[in-house]
Amino acid sequence: MRNETANIIVDVHGETTSEKIAMGRFLDGKVSAVIGTHTHVQTADEQIFPGGTAFLCDAGMCGPVNSILGRAVDPIMNRFISNLPASFPVAGGEVRLRGALIEIDESTGRAVRITRVDEPGLGAAASSEPEPKIEVEQAPSPEQT
Ligand SMILES: [Fe+2]
Repeated sequence: MRNETANIIVDVHGETTSEKIAMGRFLDGKVSAVIGTHTHVQTADEQIFPGGTAFLCDAGMCGPVNSILGRAVDPIMNRFISNLPASFPVAGGEVRLRGALIEIDESTGRAVRITRVDEPGLGAAASSEPEPKIEVEQAPSPEQT
């Protein structure tokens, strides 16, 4: 791919920070940026490695803040407590845009700057609206089972 362009961005879709950092270090100097995804939780470790590769372990999620990974809280909580199957609707309320801006020297492919993004989403004025309440069946008590 380096024969076609010097500007390469790698999305490392993975769970563990150690694996994503290792991939970033492995690709340092070979690509312009390595950005992790998957956990939905933005990390604060943006940096440019010595070889010129920008890195952020996880870009975070674009979506509802008052949620569990973007889904309404109560159904997820009930699922953990009861271990019963349930649907997980998307949460309402305030949303945020998260990610990273990367400036690249296009002639070399080296990153010049990386800036984390964490901004209010469209409709931020509606952020004071309460999260829509969803009726969720409660897990049976030990006496009921
Ligand atoms: Fe994922």
